[in-house]
Amino acid sequence: MKARAVVAAAMLAALSATAASQTYDAARARKDWVLNCMGCHTADGSGIPGKVPALRNSLGHFVSLAEGRQFVMRVPGAANSALNDAELANVLNWLLATMNEESRPASFKPYTADEVAAHRRPALTDVARARMKLVKELQENGVDAVPEHY
Ligand code: HEC
Repeated sequence: MKARAVVAAAMLAALSATAASQTYDAARARKDWVLNCMGCHTADGSGIPGKVPALRNSLGHFVSLAEGRQFVMRVPGAANSALNDAELANVLNWLLATMNEESRPASFKPYTADEVAAHRRPALTDVARARMKLVKELQENGVDAVPEHY
């Protein structure tokens, strides 16, 4: 009985730790993703070769760089979307947690509405150049998981 109580307490602690680290509303993110992003980025985020980049296993690498963290919200599809700052932060946190678990740095701090409000605009006008700069920086850090061309 005692052992069981200990196990139950441990399980409760683990559950609340999970809840605390989940800083996004999954149901809302999924809905916002479907209506605002998925049409181009495809349902599972794998993108369209030659046209639309994958958002899978790459955003985690981008957010490891200070400029990359802003890049992710300043690409036109994100910056100019109809989503408000809190909604965009929520979708980005959901993408990082569900499609980028492996590339996301352990030190990753979730986006907040305030951060998105401060940095989403102006949207990038030369995305290709900004992206190439980041990809090179990642390569210099020994990360070649983000393709130069998609
Ligand atoms: C109309 C199509 C379209 C929509 C809608 C769209 N995107 Fe994109 N997205 C693109 C294209 C194309 C690129 C490549 C950069 C560019 O040309 O803007 C891109 C690039 C990105 C990137 C950078 C990825 C990389 O590897 O360079 C992120 C992050 C991103 N989009 C997030 C989003 C999010 C989040 C949404 C929804 C709020 C969204 N996009 C909606 C077409 C779209």
